[in-house]
Amino acid sequence: MPQKDSKSLRSYRWYGPDDLRSFGHRSRAASMGCIQADYAGKPVIAIINTWSDINPCHSHLRERANDVKRGVWQAGGFPVEMPALTLGETFQKPTTMMYRNLLAMETEELLRSYPADGCVLLGGCDKTTPALLMGAISMNIPAIYVPAGPMLRGNWHGQILGSGSDVTKYWSERRAGNIDLQAWTQIEDGIARSAGTCMTMGTASTMTSLAEVLGFSLPGASSIPAVDSNHVRMADRAGRRIVEMVWEDLKPRDILSDASFNNAIASVFALGGSTNAVIHLVALAGRAGIKITLDRFDQLSRKTPLLANLRPSGKYLMEDFYYAGGLPALLNAFAPQLDLSCLTITGKTLGENVAGAEIYNTDVIRTLDNPVLESGGLAILHGNLAPTGAVIKSSAAEPRFLKHTGRAIVFDSYDEMNARIDDPALDVDANSVLVLRNAGPKGAPGMPEWGNLPIPQKLLKAGIRDMVRISDARMSGTGYGACVLHVSPESFVGGPLALLKEGDMVELDVPERRLNMRVNDDELGRRRAAWRPKEGIYPRGYGKLYMQHIKQADQGCDFDFLEGTAPIPEPEIH
Ligand code: FES
Repeated sequence: MPQKDSKSLRSYRWYGPDDLRSFGHRSRAASMGCIQADYAGKPVIAIINTWSDINPCHSHLRERANDVKRGVWQAGGFPVEMPALTLGETFQKPTTMMYRNLLAMETEELLRSYPADGCVLLGGCDKTTPALLMGAISMNIPAIYVPAGPMLRGNWHGQILGSGSDVTKYWSERRAGNIDLQAWTQIEDGIARSAGTCMTMGTASTMTSLAEVLGFSLPGASSIPAVDSNHVRMADRAGRRIVEMVWEDLKPRDILSDASFNNAIASVFALGGSTNAVIHLVALAGRAGIKITLDRFDQLSRKTPLLANLRPSGKYLMEDFYYAGGLPALLNAFAPQLDLSCLTITGKTLGENVAGAEIYNTDVIRTLDNPVLESGGLAILHGNLAPTGAVIKSSAAEPRFLKHTGRAIVFDSYDEMNARIDDPALDVDANSVLVLRNAGPKGAPGMPEWGNLPIPQKLLKAGIRDMVRISDARMSGTGYGACVLHVSPESFVGGPLALLKEGDMVELDVPERRLNMRVNDDELGRRRAAWRPKEGIYPRGYGKLYMQHIKQADQGCDFDFLEGTAPIPEPEIH
């Protein structure tokens, strides 16, 4: 590993020279109580913190920032905490996805414009993980990801509750008239019992696990519950390690490779992870100059078993996963299908990090000879409804729907869907295919998690709990059902979903990877000629920038001007 000296630190340009600007930096550091010995010649570690009063998943990250600082000080670094856009999944509208790239930009530019030699990234709630990593990869200075960690298991009347998954389940029961307001309120009070991220294998735990697989976190970090004292010590260790990484000059793009992304993609399937990972991994790879196509997901899905028996695809929750050995145990069990030579932030390989990690409960973490599912947890579909691809989490769908033809019920918008879905006059039955359009990256905008459309109330009352649903939206990683998502190109930009009419027959064939509407080409040509684009809703501001530069779901929804590794000049000294 190359070793830096103190004059080659980025921060030396701010603090070191005998000139007017550096005088200003040192005198203002002094005004904050710092003496020169605190920072002179030491790596400055930016702690990018997405804590806020409106992000429950990150409510402990103020304390964790202090734990990281303790580690940085102990290792001879100078910690500087920098707050960044919080992206609280449950509160932000229209969707945090609209702001993922804004946080990525903010992260990159905070690191560039301030004297950061290395960084520790504090996040965890869904979009914060890819956003922070995208920014750090683009800036390419030493970086460690400290995941917020999952919250404790939910509880209601002795029943274990899982974030998101059980909300959807019990909401369906409430709409079916099986749960009264008192029980619903008790569930509300019992489902989120501590700080931390959703504790199912939703998008948050999928992405924090993938950050670890890619080599950005200390081994086992992503599985530790947020309120466990092991989490505190993990943060401290991250603070110590980042200082070493600066001296070693170990940067994100030294770690990332085609092989490390293959490991991450395979891990999505071994974990039963969120469909959102498809979009985020494509975007992360794009920041490292690595091209990933949707086909790669499909190929790896076909040969990767599901080993984590976690909701929504399985039975248990993240707390159980941690006690069963966590991600290192799963990766060790799964080692024959991984490239173990990939480098990580420990300075060791992935294989060295997970060697010897044991499974303590073989029902929670399965082995290759006893998987939850042999393969195929996720499928990439193509056809005249999705020319550049669509995604279905087949492991979370009722198997009878994996090959299904039905009559389309088409909703032109989320509002229209909400207005019609429970109308007793809606001409729908259990075989119908529910379609939502104008819910994609530009159409919604922000591609919200509307993709598991609600089952019509009259069908819920008849005992129906799953139907084929198709949209250009995303689905929460905690969601489940026969939901075809991320249909690309989206309807708002004229993708074929825009041409579908109520009553058309739609054919879903997951084994054959097909998604088609049975409408002939002449008729489609007539509909295309009559189609008119909708107006965008943002005359100015971030929304306008977003609409001008957002890419489609199959391309990772990054902004076109943020991709790639073209070097950007360091800020001038003066
Ligand atoms: Fe933050 Fe689920 S709402 S992780």
